Amino acid sequence: KMQRFIDDLMSKMTLEEKIGQLNLITVGFDVTGPVVSKDVDVNIRKGLVGGVFNTYTPVAARKLQNMALKESRLHIPLMFGYDVIHGHRTIFPIPLGLSASWDMAAVERSARVAAEESAADGLHWVFSPMVDIARDPRWGRVAEGGGEDPYLGSQIARAMVRGYQGTDLSQNNTVMACLKHFALYGAAEAGRDYNTTDMSLARMYNEYLPPYKAAIEAGVGSVMSSFNDINGIPATGNKWLLTDLLRKQWGFKGFVATDYTAIPEMINHGVGNEAQVSAMALNAGADQDMVGEVYLRNLAQNLKDGTVKQEIIDASCRRILEGKYKLGLFQDPYRGVSEKRAKATLMKKEFLDDARAIARKSFVLLKNDNNALPLKKAGTIALVGPLATRQHDLLGNWSAAGDWKQAVSVEQGIRNVAGSGVKIVTAQGANITDDQLLVDRLNAFGGALTPDKRSSADMIQEAVQVAQGADVVVAVVGESQGMTGEAASRADIGLPGQQLELLKALKKTGKPLVVVLMNGRPLTLNWENQNADAILETWFAGTQGGNAIADVLFGAYNPSGKLTITFPQSVGQVPLYYNHKSTGRPFGGQQLDKYKSRYLDVSNEPLYPFGYGLSYTTFSYSKPELSASTMSLGGALDVKVTVKNTGNYDGEEVAQLYVRDVAGSVSRPVRELKGFQKVLLKKGESRTLTFHLTTDDLKFYNNDLQWVAEPGAFQVFVGPNSRDTQEASFTLTSGSAAN
Ligand code: IFM
Repeated sequence: KMQRFIDDLMSKMTLEEKIGQLNLITVGFDVTGPVVSKDVDVNIRKGLVGGVFNTYTPVAARKLQNMALKESRLHIPLMFGYDVIHGHRTIFPIPLGLSASWDMAAVERSARVAAEESAADGLHWVFSPMVDIARDPRWGRVAEGGGEDPYLGSQIARAMVRGYQGTDLSQNNTVMACLKHFALYGAAEAGRDYNTTDMSLARMYNEYLPPYKAAIEAGVGSVMSSFNDINGIPATGNKWLLTDLLRKQWGFKGFVATDYTAIPEMINHGVGNEAQVSAMALNAGADQDMVGEVYLRNLAQNLKDGTVKQEIIDASCRRILEGKYKLGLFQDPYRGVSEKRAKATLMKKEFLDDARAIARKSFVLLKNDNNALPLKKAGTIALVGPLATRQHDLLGNWSAAGDWKQAVSVEQGIRNVAGSGVKIVTAQGANITDDQLLVDRLNAFGGALTPDKRSSADMIQEAVQVAQGADVVVAVVGESQGMTGEAASRADIGLPGQQLELLKALKKTGKPLVVVLMNGRPLTLNWENQNADAILETWFAGTQGGNAIADVLFGAYNPSGKLTITFPQSVGQVPLYYNHKSTGRPFGGQQLDKYKSRYLDVSNEPLYPFGYGLSYTTFSYSKPELSASTMSLGGALDVKVTVKNTGNYDGEEVAQLYVRDVAGSVSRPVRELKGFQKVLLKKGESRTLTFHLTTDDLKFYNNDLQWVAEPGAFQVFVGPNSRDTQEASFTLTSGSAAN
């Protein structure tokens, strides 16, 4: 039926109108790239626009949709997209934070709420999930993804696609997801945004591609090509990537949109002039040109010159129209949007409650000596630090249509939760940064930073005085939201400005020091780790951030998040990730060992490993027990471990299972995540968890890109993080399993 409808429609379309469907423009209401589209209305009326992004609200959507439906020749509806990344109006924690919940129901729920809100606000299409594996915390966009692990990243990718798209895209409370950034964008050299990636195919297939593949398998409707080149060919013009891998190997049936002006940027990459990159991108499989208008200017001539064929243009046009059809736009181009529906949906109480509950799950307790946390609801708290009272940063980068004025600050959250028994005294203590150039840059994109002009010494002195009169110091420090995200790489990943100096001065007061971090990337926190009594990582926690933080600080919720990206001791160690290979000269920790793979000035260890996170309670793990000492090819075995809550609070624990293939035809990572379970255990309760390990879990892509499991010895590790594990082992035998 869909094909017949589209055949009929396409038979009426001129070449110009077909090319028009391949044109995706921004209205410039929100600016997310270096240029904005011109002649928007004129081009819509001429049928030269397939999709529009950076606008929302029922009124705007209806206005533009009316223009296309009533004033263009064939009345083809527009598709409205937007960067709904971690919520639309109700903002959830940044994706890196969401991933730290290790709670797939929570991740899916956040995407479902975002879908309900964005659909009610006139949108059809969200530029999410971003599933780029990232191992370099200098890269600002680590904030937008699910961290460094392909197994966890794949689960998150599936959960997000389910949340956005539901089971039927034509339902008007769903939105089409857009998988991005295809591919390997997170491997940008030196963590510098948009930079080159160069990688072996085996590494791609094993370590970087799985989350994209998982989203395709989950039925994601569209894909965004990335800015970077891959082994010399820009992703946006990379036929191997967009056609051979994505469509032929993986069977993707949806459409590919480029990233913002990624087609003209191929000229800068040095692969051709405008006419050439136009043909290159289309022939590669990039269906829709985001903002570049290169297709609009070149495809007709490309066709005349014979550098593109009519059937390729037709195929791309068809894929865009199919996307619109699946969304039900030809049946109901307005998808039931109205101001009434928007009013009843946006930021409703249920969604705000979800945002608070999910934010609490995303926080990671990095340190808690002498039960510094939870705080008592008594006495005086010195609430200091540049992020303690600000609402601006809580929403984090890519906060869509979120309004920072609706965000709950940490101060407000503490006041809400602590009640009148607690006295709160505040002092800023430091600016987030004192670098005026950086402040100007951040402010040009909504940073709203107004650095205090007093000397740093005066500001610190004031905070110290406040701290001296208190029972405990809560210092809220970190980054401004614009310091992570797109085009926000940092070469130094410590606390910016004078914030560390502030913490040092506070420490000297002798008061218990609780550090609450807000940031979008791993930071180097050596001094903080050695000297603070407690450290709570809260990322950028979203609309309900302050309430959620206060819930955790006062023990209404026991923290359960675990890191999904390694925190290094020093920026000089990056990239540092848990699933690395062993060298021929691994460093065993003997200080005098010279000819070993090591640094002279820092150990090889991270500050906090992947999977790490504490709780107000403690958990013990039994040694893992295997149901068999061998597994046949094609077979499976169970790994059982008993986890006990040995502390004084009920709490959730994320039990993690890792595997190592001891010797293979190619060297394999020292460990790889292959399972996890998040369980709530009451104080004193123990539970035996069973992980089912199959031959598929042992498979990898060899250098011929065959997906194989190789007989031999395997180690299994189970524990609370990727480092503190207990071990068992089994042998994979070459005989086939009976079943
Ligand atoms: O979706 C984004 C992408 O992540 C980065 N460049 C701009 C796009 C649209 O705003």
